[in-house]
Amino acid sequence: LSSSSTYTTPPSVLLLGPDNAGKTALLTLFERGSQPAATHTSQVAHAIELNASTDSVTRSSFRNHDDATGTHTKFYLVDTPGHGKLRNVAMGRLARTEKVKAVVFVVDAAALGEQETLAPTAAYLYDVLLFLQKKATSKGKDKASIPVLIAANKMDLFTALPATMVKSHLELELSRIRASRSKGLLDSGVGMDDVGSEEQDGWLGEYGSEKFTFQQMGEFDIDVEVLAGSVLTEEPGADKWWWWIAQRI
Ligand code: GTP
Ligand code: MG
Repeated sequence: LSSSSTYTTPPSVLLLGPDNAGKTALLTLFERGSQPAATHTSQVAHAIELNASTDSVTRSSFRNHDDATGTHTKFYLVDTPGHGKLRNVAMGRLARTEKVKAVVFVVDAAALGEQETLAPTAAYLYDVLLFLQKKATSKGKDKASIPVLIAANKMDLFTALPATMVKSHLELELSRIRASRSKGLLDSGVGMDDVGSEEQDGWLGEYGSEKFTFQQMGEFDIDVEVLAGSVLTEEPGADKWWWWIAQRI
């Protein structure tokens, strides 16, 4: 009945990442504040409403999200399907959601040591980062630099790579993908100064650099951070990710 313009849309945080990484489990953990729920392969995007605080004593824990003592910011946490055949659902959500304040890209750190997980994970991340880079350099009203948290999940498993290795493995694989996707561009004999802006636009990170690093996204004001955690166990748990989110909404 009241005019919708009197309500402002809360900001959104998107959960992206390949299938089986733990996105839905993480969403249910934040929603319940205790144990994550058993999950099935997601086929649709799903949003829940949460409150985060940056000023109460227990601010860094998601378990206080319904605590009434602090100043809380309401936000939507949006889960997306990770399956490759449903990539359009996730990318569409990224493109269309209003007020996206952050992207949490969840990866399975216990499987990332295997090329068969690393390759598709990095390919998806590449698409997400390139989309965000284009958004950051666009001239339209949608222009924004959206920070990315790479949530290195499943640290409770003994095969899990530490955060530093998750980072280096992904950077190396992203370098490879970038080289193959832009093949011919750099060794075409055209000097770097002669390359059109269109070609530069399709290049992820620092143009012409040999190795991709997440730090290169800083050129577009896109902050990329890798933090380790686990949805299923208390330690290291998910508090660090929650705190990262709370500071960005
Ligand atoms: P899609 O919906 O297919 O995109 O996958 P998803 O990213 O939503 O994965 P989901 O949350 O369904 O979790 C996949 C499996 O990983 C489930 O069996 C979870 O219980 C398990 N899992 C999630 N987090 C952890 C964790 O921290 N440690 C361990 N050991 N398993 C986890
Ligand atoms: Mg899911």
